[in-house]
Amino acid sequence: MTGVFFCTEPLGGRSRGLFCCGVDALDRYFHRQVSQDIRRRLTACYVALCGDSERICGFYTLSACHIALPDLPAEITRKLPPYPVIPAVRIGRLAVDRDFRGQGLGSAMLVDAARRVIESDIAAFALIVDAKDAQAVAFYEHHGFLRLAVEGEARTLFIPLKGIAARLKQE
Ligand SMILES: CC(C)(COP(=O)(O)OP(=O)(O)OC[C@H]1O[C@@H](n2cnc3c(N)ncnc32)[C@H](O)[C@@H]1OP(=O)(O)O)[C@@H](O)C(=O)NCCC(=O)NCCS
Repeated sequence: MTGVFFCTEPLGGRSRGLFCCGVDALDRYFHRQVSQDIRRRLTACYVALCGDSERICGFYTLSACHIALPDLPAEITRKLPPYPVIPAVRIGRLAVDRDFRGQGLGSAMLVDAARRVIESDIAAFALIVDAKDAQAVAFYEHHGFLRLAVEGEARTLFIPLKGIAARLKQE
């Protein structure tokens, strides 16, 4: 990560009105919907704050989910017990404010999300994302995510957490 210093925290009661990633659906969700989803325990939301300020430069959401075993590639399922579903955590949304693009914040939030899940007492095998378009798929693939073999869901990607946990341990 270069340039500005970021830290991440739960969204809490922070004002979200100034955040703008430029993708309407994501901005609308963050401005109008995310608090309700948090209250209903449908999602958790973490925000990246710039330096010592309260300016929100990015956010991501996490929710519990599962992967049907046959949707994982054979080279992975070979090493897993034949359970029908495998526990996972979904990054439902992830976005960086337009003023903070290209400074490593998107990558930093992915690592932060993985770290939170790995450090949780509740086990999850992988992180899952639903990329909104081809560019987002490219972003996640750049970070090592692989496509799930779900028919009609070419934009659902996953990354096993075991390797990331080992790397984080070495840091
Ligand atoms: C996609 C997004 C989160 C990237 O955030 P960012 O902070 O600008 O990205 P970073 O600076 O962290 O980029 C880190 C790395 O990813 C690469 N990258 C960024 N966007 C990429 C893309 N679309 N395709 C491939 N690689 C990409 C960068 O080149 C960089 O590579 P490097 O570390 O090897 O130099 C941001 O552009 C965004 O919020 N877009 C709108 C919302 C969106 O598309 N969200 C995706 C989930 S639906």
